[in-house]
Amino acid sequence: MPLLGIKALNQNTSLYVWKITETFDELFRSVALKDVSLARLEGMKSEAHQKGFLSVRRLLMEAGYTDFDLYYDAYGKPHLNDGTHISVSHSHECSVIVLSNQIVGADLELLKEKTLHIAPRFMETFHLDQLSHENQIKKATVIWGIKESVFKIKNEKGISFPEHIFEKPFRLEDKKAIAELQFNDHVEYFDIQFDFIDNYVFVCAFNSGEKK
Ligand SMILES: CC(C)(COP(=O)(O)OP(=O)(O)OC[C@H]1O[C@@H](n2cnc3c(N)ncnc32)[C@H](O)[C@@H]1OP(=O)(O)O)[C@@H](O)C(=O)NCCC(=O)NCCS
Repeated sequence: MPLLGIKALNQNTSLYVWKITETFDELFRSVALKDVSLARLEGMKSEAHQKGFLSVRRLLMEAGYTDFDLYYDAYGKPHLNDGTHISVSHSHECSVIVLSNQIVGADLELLKEKTLHIAPRFMETFHLDQLSHENQIKKATVIWGIKESVFKIKNEKGISFPEHIFEKPFRLEDKKAIAELQFNDHVEYFDIQFDFIDNYVFVCAFNSGEKK
């Protein structure tokens, strides 16, 4: 089951989701790759990573692009030649791209116990108060995804998840939140949308300015 869905996150932003059930060969045969992408693919250590990379190319095709329209900057951040903003994430058997006319950061994370276990290392644990164990895993994973998404937008050296990125209190059922980046004497805010796709958490961040 390849394309799981396409969803409008707002008027100018679309989420594309791929559930990877194909073999490496099936995916490989279905996409055309630039030489630089072929070389990258060959250098990847795990087949899971290779399949994630190839499935993102399938998602690009669903959106009317190919690998030839995508390039990476020196930080590894992807860009599209036509100026449409893109963010990419893959996790285990699932991958996503988000396309927007706004700068966007997206993250996909598999729900797992380990994220809750390491929560004190990356987040303020008051967010987990009075939640069931299952919801603690969900919320810790959403917050991890928020930090990754904000990081993907800012892309600056020195940003620490626990020291610089914070979330205002929110409820899982809200499926939205506000994050704050306090870095280099500036405070910046981000509008967050999140959702649960099978046993994955999808998070998307948009820059919402310096004051709120
Ligand atoms: C770059 C980073 C955000 C990638 O996130 P990840 O969860 O490992 O992997 P994901 O699948 O979600 O994202 C990978 C995609 O992000 C994109 N990406 C890579 N570097 C990026 C960057 N600097 N900015 C924006 N996007 C980036 C790429 O498209 C990549 O996929 P591709 O190369 O196959 O196209 C992550 O590795 C990172 O460096 N995070 C910050 C680490 C950190 O501060 N940790 C603190 C722990 S307390």
